[in-house]
Amino acid sequence: MTPATPRDATSDPAGRPLDAEGFRRAGHALVDWIADYRERIAERPVAHLPPPGAIRAKLPPRAPEQGEPMAEILADLDSVVMPGIVHWQHPGWFAYFPANSSYESILGELASAGLGVQGMLWSTSPACTEIETHVLDWLVHAMGLPERFLSAGGPAGAPGEPNGERRGGGVLQDTASSAALVALVAARERATAFATDACGIGAFGRAIVVYTSDQAHSSIEKAARLAGLGKEFVRLIPVDATGAMRVDHLEEAIQRDRAAGHLPAFVSATVGTTGVNAIDPVDEIARVCRAHGLWLHVDAAMSGTAALCEEFRFVNAGAAHADSWCFNPHKWMPVNFDCDVLWVADRAELVRALSVLPEYLRNAATESGKVIDYRDWQIPLGRRFRALKLWFVLRSFGLDGLRALVRDHVSMARELAARVRGSAALELVVDPPLNLVSIAHRAGDDATQRLIDAVNRDGRFFVSHCRFHGRLVLRVSIGALATTSGHVRAFGDLLIARAAEEPRG
Ligand SMILES: Cc1ncc(COP(=O)(O)O)c(C=O)c1O
Repeated sequence: MTPATPRDATSDPAGRPLDAEGFRRAGHALVDWIADYRERIAERPVAHLPPPGAIRAKLPPRAPEQGEPMAEILADLDSVVMPGIVHWQHPGWFAYFPANSSYESILGELASAGLGVQGMLWSTSPACTEIETHVLDWLVHAMGLPERFLSAGGPAGAPGEPNGERRGGGVLQDTASSAALVALVAARERATAFATDACGIGAFGRAIVVYTSDQAHSSIEKAARLAGLGKEFVRLIPVDATGAMRVDHLEEAIQRDRAAGHLPAFVSATVGTTGVNAIDPVDEIARVCRAHGLWLHVDAAMSGTAALCEEFRFVNAGAAHADSWCFNPHKWMPVNFDCDVLWVADRAELVRALSVLPEYLRNAATESGKVIDYRDWQIPLGRRFRALKLWFVLRSFGLDGLRALVRDHVSMARELAARVRGSAALELVVDPPLNLVSIAHRAGDDATQRLIDAVNRDGRFFVSHCRFHGRLVLRVSIGALATTSGHVRAFGDLLIARAAEEPRG
C-alpha cells in the first residue's frame, strides 16, 4: 500500500524558492499526505527493512544544480523515503519505547519552524522563554512534583521577581542525554567549588566519581566521559532482582572512593530503566546523597509521564530531595522528538556552571536580572521554540486526556502480563510496574530469541529485547498513541501461540 502522493503541489515553478502561495499549496498537500499515512499506517508491516544501501542507491550522486519542483520532491516521500521507514507510530509498535508524535505536536513543531525564532535570550523572543517557563511550571503541578522545581521557587515566589530570589525552574533540552550532561557539569562544579571550571579536570588533581546502576541508560556513562571524568570513574552499582539499584552497594562504593581519596560527586537514579522499567529507590538514594553531599539526578525518561496520574506517583518518590529531575515528553507523552524536560532545584548552580557572556549577547533585559536566558541552561547557544508543541499538546489533550492515555496503556500492559502469567510456556521476568512487559520463554534464551524473531516476522507487531541478569528478555513496550486493547490482545494471541510451538525446556 502506498499513501496518496501529495496533492495539489504541482504548480510551483521549478528553480525558484517557494513563495507564500507555493508554500500554502505544498503545505496543504503535505498535511494531507501525513494524515493519509497515519490513517492507514496499520496496513503496513511495522518494520520491513530494505537491504543496506538501498535507500542511498535511489539518490543521485550529487546535489541538483537546478532547483526541482516541490511536487517531485514530495512525491519522493513515497518512492525514496517510505521503503526505508520503520513505523514508530504504528499501533503494533512495542519496541524500545513509545515515541509519540501527535497531530497537535506536529502542528506545534510546524508553528515553531514557521516562526523561525532563536530563543537563546529572553530578548531574542520573549514568548519563547516565557511560555516554556510557564508550561514547565504547569507540569510541576500536573505531575505532583516538588514546588522547589517551580520557576518562582515555591509559594512565596512570583513571576517577575529578580533572578536572585528565585531558585528552581524547568528547561527544555533536546534529550535526556543532554539533561544528564548539563546536570553533571553543574554537579562537578558544585563538588569542586568551581575549581574545574577555572583550571580543568587535569589540574584539579582528584578523581571525580559518578554513580548509577548497572541498568542505567548508557547516556550517564557518556555524560561522564563528555564532562571529562573518564569512564573509569563511573561506578555501575549492582541491582536487585527487580532491577533496582542496591543502596547498600551505593553506600559502600562511595565509602571506598572516599577512602581512596577520590571525590564522589553525582548519583543518577533511574525511574524506569531502559531494560525492564525498574524503579530505583530514589528516596533511599537521596538519603545517601544528603549524607555525603552528592548531587542527585533522576532520569525518568519514559516513566516520568506516569506521574500525571495520582495512583502512579510512586515514580516521584524521593523527588523532593533531587537536585535535578528529567523526563521525556517525546516518549510516552505525545510530544514528538525532541523534547526533554529538566527541572533543577537551584538554577543558580546550573547557570553559573554553563554561563559565558560575550559582549555581543549583552542586553538590558539580561542586566536587569528580571528574565531567564535559557542559553545558560543548555549546551548550545541557539534554541528552537520547543515549548510550542508541548503547549499545544497539553491544551488540546488536557490533563484528563493525557491521564486517560497513561491509564489505558498501563491497563493493557497488566492484561498482557496476566496472560503471560497464565501461560505454560512463558514467564514474566519482573512484575511490570507500568507499561513495559518483560517476558522470557521458559525453555531458555534460544527459544526466547526464536519467539522474538517469529513475532517480528509476522509484521503486525514489533518488539525489542534486552538482557537482564544474564537472561534474554522480550520487551513489550506499550505506549503508542494508536495502540488499543484490541491490538494488545491480538499480540498476546500471537505470542502465546508461537510460544507453544517451541519445545519445552
Ligand atoms: C531510562 C532512559 N534514559 C535516557 C534515555 C535516553 O533518552 P534520550 O534519547 O532522550 O537521550 C533513554 C532512552 O531510551 C532511557 O530509556
